[in-house]
Amino acid sequence: MLKKLLLLSCFLPTLAWAEGDALRGKTVAMVRCGPCHHLNTGFIKVGPTLKNIYGKKPTIQGVSFDVWDEAALTAWLINPRAIKANTRMRLPYLSTHDRNDIIAWLKSKQ
Ligand code: HEC
Repeated sequence: MLKKLLLLSCFLPTLAWAEGDALRGKTVAMVRCGPCHHLNTGFIKVGPTLKNIYGKKPTIQGVSFDVWDEAALTAWLINPRAIKANTRMRLPYLSTHDRNDIIAWLKSKQ
């Protein structure tokens, strides 16, 4: 029984991670996406605005996603160039933790 509990407690932080922390995600997005994207206004910066991006149809050419959902954003943020070879989006390594939190935040704004 104790063993089971211990095992369970090991998984709990991972589960919380997988869910993503929207509040932390906001801060991470300001640092990692903010230099190139407006996050809360509709204006174009280096890239298109991320305001209400979750659940929207991509505005950029050359990606085959119907909407920016969790799966699409995950794939894009893991490696934009694997999705679109000539994309101008350059994203230095983003940890899984950061990526999940950013997506949770984008989702929470829709
Ligand atoms: C170095 C600048 C740069 C950084 C940093 C950057 N992006 Fe981008 N992003 C771009 C550019 C440029 C495009 C347009 C790409 C294209 O047309 O191929 C883009 C496109 C996008 C799109 C497609 C939007 C649409 O309207 O279809 C999403 C989603 C996106 N970025 C999310 C992010 C997120 C989330 C982050 C932070 C983790 C981020 N980007 C960091 C430059 C950047």
